[in-house]
Formats: sequence, C-alpha cells, structure tokens
Amino acid sequence: MTKKKRIKTYIENLDSQMSGGIPEGHVVLLSGNPGTYKSSMSYSILYHNALEKGTKGLYISFQQSRESLADQFEGMNMDPEDVREKITIVDASYLRETLEPDPEDWIDVFKTYVENIRATTDYELLVLDSLTTLEMISKMEDRREVLFHIFEWLRDFQGLTSFLLTERARTKQTLREEEFLADGTIILSKERLDKVETRRYLAIDKMRSTAHETSYFTLLFEGGKFQVTRVISE
Ligand SMILES: Nc1ncnc2c1ncn2[C@@H]1O[C@H](COP(=O)(O)OP(=O)(O)O)[C@@H](O)[C@H]1O
Ligand SMILES: [Mg+2]
Repeated sequence: MTKKKRIKTYIENLDSQMSGGIPEGHVVLLSGNPGTYKSSMSYSILYHNALEKGTKGLYISFQQSRESLADQFEGMNMDPEDVREKITIVDASYLRETLEPDPEDWIDVFKTYVENIRATTDYELLVLDSLTTLEMISKMEDRREVLFHIFEWLRDFQGLTSFLLTERARTKQTLREEEFLADGTIILSKERLDKVETRRYLAIDKMRSTAHETSYFTLLFEGGKFQVTRVISE
C-alpha cells in the first residue's frame, strides 16, 4: 500500500500528534462556537501551505465579507496579499443581497463555485465557511441525504482536502450527521477562566487512517502562527 500524502496544518506541535498531518482527500470538520478561531485557523492552514509548498487554496465564505476576512487575516500577520497568486477568497455572501437565489439553490451555488474555479485552478485545499451558514440559508428537505451527497461529491475531487466549518454549541451533545460523515473532526473551544483570562483549546476528536491524540490541547496564537501545548492539569 502506498502511503498517503498528508497535509500539514503548520500549527506548531499539532502535526506530530497526528502522524504528520491530515490525510490528503479527507473532508474535515472544524467545529466550535463563534470566536473560537475557525475562520482564522482554516485560513492559516491554507496560508502556510501556500507559502511553504505553493499549494493552492480556495476559501468560500457564506458568512463574512471578503473585505472583513481580509482585514482580520492581515491583522493576524497572514496578509492575503502575500499569497494572492495561490489563495482565492470567494465571498458568496454578497449573492444573498444581489441574486437572492431560491433557498433550494444555495447548495448548487456552492457547488458551482467549487466546480468552476477548479476547472481553471488546480487548488488542493478548500474551506467552506461555514456549513452552518450554508444550511441556514438553504432549504434542506432531507438533511441527511443532502449532507451525504455533499460529502461524497467533495471526496470525488482528486487530491482535494476540505475543511467544513461548523458552529457548535458546546452544550449540545447530540451527534449530528456531519460528524459521522466526516473523515475528521477538530474541535475548537474557549473558556473564560475569570474576569480577565480566557483560555482556548483544540482537540482532534476524529481523524480516519491516523493514530492521534484525542485529549484537549491549549491553543495559542502568536506572531502570525497557531500553536498547541499540552494542558497542564492543575
Ligand atoms: N490580530 C489578532 N490576533 C489575535 N487574535 C485575534 C486577532 N484579531 C482577532 N482575533 C481573535 O479572533 C477571534 C475571531 O476568530 P475567528 O477565526 O473569526 O473565529 P470564528 O470563525 O470561530 O468565529 C476574535 O474573537 C478575536 O478573539
Ligand atoms: Mg468565522
């Protein structure tokens, strides 16, 4: 058996915790409540792969405008201008005001973006920001069926690794379809320790074909890079 190529996250200390990275072709959920770095971290994976390896990436936002995302990433020392030739950030949210597609057409809008851009650019990394927003604006008659097809459709692209962002309330313990459909799930969370301090966490909940750590790591963002460290129990 040939060893599968792995996509590095370039999150310091994390790739070594999952056999070198995410297996190429995986559809990975990046889930967490608002403000847990889903957008920034998924973009950071695209950004660092573009800088280090020249890997092309596509970031589709149904949530935040392109300008707002670009401002945020620039402020985090991951300026989209640095990787202009490699990373395309598509703002699908503006279509909500201009085209107002029928709710049942939103899934097709997403698919068309992915297919059209892939026809001209051989990008290997895809971010959907977010699956939750796409679901909110779409009409999914049969959620399980629609999601199943999206996941299968994504897996059919040769050499494409995808990150689907999902907003997840931490208290919600019910298992959702996407969690068993996905090849991997990375959970992000944050916790207010006291009036001053907030701590952020990351856990690899699931990663198919990979021996990985499952416990929570502390997540830090410093100098334009994410890093994880072991949680020191008090
Ligand atoms: N320049 C910065 N450096 C470090 N953290 C930042 C910076 N700008 C914003 N943030 C943090 O990033 C958070 C938003 O991250 P984001 O990736 O948009 O989260 P999500 O997509 O999960 O909602 C903000 O709430 C803030 O705490
Ligand atoms: Mg976001």
